[in-house]
Amino acid sequence: MFGATAVRRKVGWPKAAGGLTFSRSPATPVIRLQLQEFPMRRSPARFVTCLAMAALVAATAPLRAQVGVASPDGRNQVMVEIRDGRLTYGLARDGRPLILPSSLGFDFRNAQPLRDGLRITDTTRRSHDEWWTQPWGEVARVRDHYNELAVTAREISPTGRVLTLRVRAFDDGIGFRYELPEQPGLTDFEIEDELTEFALADNGRAWWIPSNWPRMDRSEMLYSSGPVSVLDSVQTPLTLELQDGRTFMVIHEADLVDYARMFLRGERTESRMLTSALAPMAGGVKVRGRTPFASPWRTIQVADSLTRLAPSLLGLNLNPPNALVATDWIEPMKYIGIWWGMHIGTMTWGSGPEHGATNENTRRYIDFAAANGLGGVLVEGWNTGWDGDWIKNRNAFSFTEAYPDYDLGALAAYAKEKGVKLIVHNETSGGIQNYERQLDSAFALYQSLGLDAIKSGYVTDTTAEGHSHYSQFMVRHYRKVIEAAAKHGIMLDVHEPMHDTGERRTYPNMMTREGARGQEYNAWSGDGGNPPEHETILFFTRLLAGPMDFTPGVFDILIERGPDGRRRPDQPRVRTTLAKQLALYVAIYSPMQMAADLPESYERQPAFQFIRDVAVDWDTTRVLDARIGDYVAVARRERGGQTWFLGAITDEQGRTLDLPLSFLTPGRRYVAEIYADGPKAHWLDNPLPVTITRRPVTSATRLRVVMAPGGGQAIRIRPR
Ligand code: NOJ
Ligand code: CA
Repeated sequence: MFGATAVRRKVGWPKAAGGLTFSRSPATPVIRLQLQEFPMRRSPARFVTCLAMAALVAATAPLRAQVGVASPDGRNQVMVEIRDGRLTYGLARDGRPLILPSSLGFDFRNAQPLRDGLRITDTTRRSHDEWWTQPWGEVARVRDHYNELAVTAREISPTGRVLTLRVRAFDDGIGFRYELPEQPGLTDFEIEDELTEFALADNGRAWWIPSNWPRMDRSEMLYSSGPVSVLDSVQTPLTLELQDGRTFMVIHEADLVDYARMFLRGERTESRMLTSALAPMAGGVKVRGRTPFASPWRTIQVADSLTRLAPSLLGLNLNPPNALVATDWIEPMKYIGIWWGMHIGTMTWGSGPEHGATNENTRRYIDFAAANGLGGVLVEGWNTGWDGDWIKNRNAFSFTEAYPDYDLGALAAYAKEKGVKLIVHNETSGGIQNYERQLDSAFALYQSLGLDAIKSGYVTDTTAEGHSHYSQFMVRHYRKVIEAAAKHGIMLDVHEPMHDTGERRTYPNMMTREGARGQEYNAWSGDGGNPPEHETILFFTRLLAGPMDFTPGVFDILIERGPDGRRRPDQPRVRTTLAKQLALYVAIYSPMQMAADLPESYERQPAFQFIRDVAVDWDTTRVLDARIGDYVAVARRERGGQTWFLGAITDEQGRTLDLPLSFLTPGRRYVAEIYADGPKAHWLDNPLPVTITRRPVTSATRLRVVMAPGGGQAIRIRPR
């Protein structure tokens, strides 16, 4: 028996059926009606005849000014058409417009814009349905299922330049990208602006960080929210809650390889129009390229409820499959580091009496990691170049020469003996040429010592050459590092990174990255630290792009171990309860998850057991309940096991959630180990009490999860 899906997958859609109009009747786009004309419940022989008919229709169909494609479930419908000579796309869900016809094109330097006077000259269709397995991730198995439409348009004028818009419609959203085929009228080019519009039908509420004020701060900013109509210039992922309160959209990009990062520019009037804005290189050009050329995918994720936004897999499906021959050396891990001490001022990166990266200190951290089942030890400040103003002295960093009190080879051997990975730190301060000059020799050295993980850093808004942190120049650099690391068998954790566009599918050694305000802001931020709502917003914004090295797990919430004993009350501190720090291990996904505090902060702390136990790689992930900026509860099952972990976090409001554990296997008995906010816990004046209890649970249990203001709850649920 052949269902509609089989027809779509095997034949693609006949062009005659492509004239998709946004009908007002829900769930019945025209395309559905036309597909039903095919005899789907007939014999295979009839089906073959049917295929032939479809091919015939496709070959002879007249070229239309309007073509469409719908997702496999028929609900997301994209219409591509020529309007006033411009190529436009629009998006509807169940017949309800989400993106109104929006124009497409490019502004070039020294050439006419490619946007006007176009006509459609060709369309092709394809369908795809495949499952693939992530070597690590929030879920193990991913379905890549879409219908694709490629529309080629040509300028009517004598220049006759051609562009192709490739659209993929998935059940969870759409992606589209530009392709510029090789052609005499367009060879080498410089893009001044990409002219993609996102004409939002609904003045929904957006959660955003700016992309233009006062600097970009490498995406390390607090989120704001407000109607789309007030947006100025913002970063993606841009998350939108539509006015119905149920529908959510996320605009982002995927497969950014040799292009500039895309921001979105609003008009700050009553308009709901957003336009792409690319990060510039020095001199203002955004992208240099040569045909044939393909842009990154512009993605619009759509969900019927907030809990369905995560985990977000659309961008991964729009990246090429794994390029590595072997991935068995790539291992998610928990790690501790010579790190927090520098941020709270008890140690230094540079040389001197407080130097953190000493042989003795590193051995102490390695011993601690080995004794507590942590897989790695990060050591910052091991290499020369930190003395003086390390942000300005970007070219002083050596990536092979250690300070005299740090013996890289001996410590690598010691770590290996203890079964711990020594994570090498590479801060560049944006000295890209300095880093690239040393890349091969440094990575070869690490590889020869068996060191297979690096945390890198790019503390700068513009490079020495004046390129934006997010320019094509930097995109190329980050990619070069990923490839060099893959070649040398090295996993990467990148701070001040390029934003995540799904690189980990192709290069699973690209483990995690920062790219948002992490825990470090609680140590030194001039505004006192991250507010209690911060992580409940991160979950539905930054984290939809990919994993984040947030570095949870600070137990010394008031940061009493500052350089002069107890800190002054006006200094920044962690604005959560201790139980919430535990819950962040589940809520904020990262395949490299730090225990951020000093080892001494974990001594004699029963709650540390949760950090020892929590998994870092998952078979499956379910968001149980959430409201952006208020709270999130998420459950994840560890990879290859039957143990679940549940993390719930709240903002400055205390809350009680009633969570059914229906995700557990029915009929199986489990024990829940619950780390909850203790009596009278409050992030502001009583953040430390944690109550640890155990109780039997099954899939029929409803759990009452009580969280203090700024609090959370972390639960391990293991089979009995
Ligand atoms: C900023 C990073 O986010 C932080 O983790 C690191 O310690 C410093 N840069 C120094 O590289
Ligand atoms: Ca940072």
